Amino acid sequence: MGLVGESGCGKSTLGRMMLRLLEPTEGKVYLDRVDLMALGLGELQRTRSKMQIIFQHPESALNPRMKIYESIMEPMQIQQVYNSRREERKKAYELIDLVGLNKEHLNRYPHELSGGQIQRAVLARILSLKPCFIVADEPTSMLDVSVQAQVLNLLKDIQKMFNIAYLFISHDLEVVCWMSDRTAIMYKGDIVEIGPSKTVYDNPRHPYTRMLVKAFSQLGQENKYGTMLKDDYKKGTVPDHASGCSFYSRCPQASMGCEKKPELRHIKEGHFVACHEIKDEQFRGTYEEDILRRAADFRPFLERYLDEYLEEAVKND
Ligand SMILES: Nc1ncnc2c1ncn2[C@@H]1O[C@H](COP(=O)(O)OP(=O)(O)O)[C@@H](O)[C@H]1O
Ligand code: SF4
Ligand SMILES: [Mg+2]
Repeated sequence: MGLVGESGCGKSTLGRMMLRLLEPTEGKVYLDRVDLMALGLGELQRTRSKMQIIFQHPESALNPRMKIYESIMEPMQIQQVYNSRREERKKAYELIDLVGLNKEHLNRYPHELSGGQIQRAVLARILSLKPCFIVADEPTSMLDVSVQAQVLNLLKDIQKMFNIAYLFISHDLEVVCWMSDRTAIMYKGDIVEIGPSKTVYDNPRHPYTRMLVKAFSQLGQENKYGTMLKDDYKKGTVPDHASGCSFYSRCPQASMGCEKKPELRHIKEGHFVACHEIKDEQFRGTYEEDILRRAADFRPFLERYLDEYLEEAVKND
């Protein structure tokens, strides 16, 4: 799942809340049907090993006084995911190779590595805990353009290899659509559109998403995206309606009815939009069709769940 929105709209806040690194004022977060808000500290810590986060600033994720080897070993030792020190060491060597570093990097300190190498080491540290869900919060935005694609490809390969769910956060719509099966667009803390990435990118329906796609396709160059949004901000003269549509002050299609907050509504095949201007007659496809399509998406998860269940059953026998 990709999450796009301009700086300050609340993407990182949402990502952190999903891991309960921040306490939400309302709402619930479930991981594999477990309500994270209901967990005590001990249970939360155990569950946390399944959920990991990659931050925008890779250097902040590693202790500058620890060698890479120690940083990779540390979470395994705390969470006791492996039976012996030998297994932990073996895993550390395996992972460092998997993320494209070599043994020699294990003996270095973070400041002796490049940004891309640090992000790889962070990935090795995270993977040692066998997570099923990773929040990747703008993981490549601080890296050189030439390194960005390598790290994104690595993230994709790792996802395929371990079947991990990602929430991939970025302000770059193109990168998110390329990385994600589904994409959500956030504006001032609200999800205004969500759907299959190709649909959201090729056939955006929310006025804000349309604006984003247009900015990318017309300008298509770094920074111009930011410039365009800043200029656009200045044009907004109508004050925001706290209770109405969050995009009201900038929306070219706004009308009186938009003072009421629009809900996310299903259009077709898992595509949802929060906008009053999308009229009901434009809503096609049934909800049942959407459920069936999404059931197919859940198949890998169900298969894994079944494997674990059977393993457990055999153990208990
Ligand atoms: N739903 C929300 N309600 C109130 N404040 C929010 C909400 N989401 C984010 N913020 C505030 O907005 C600021 C920027 O949010 P952040 O999550 O860092 O945005 P982004 O990652 O999209 O740049 C933070 O100070 C955060 O506390
Ligand atoms: S609800 Fe109204 S203000 Fe909001 S995006 Fe749709 S048309 Fe624009
Ligand atoms: Mg952020």
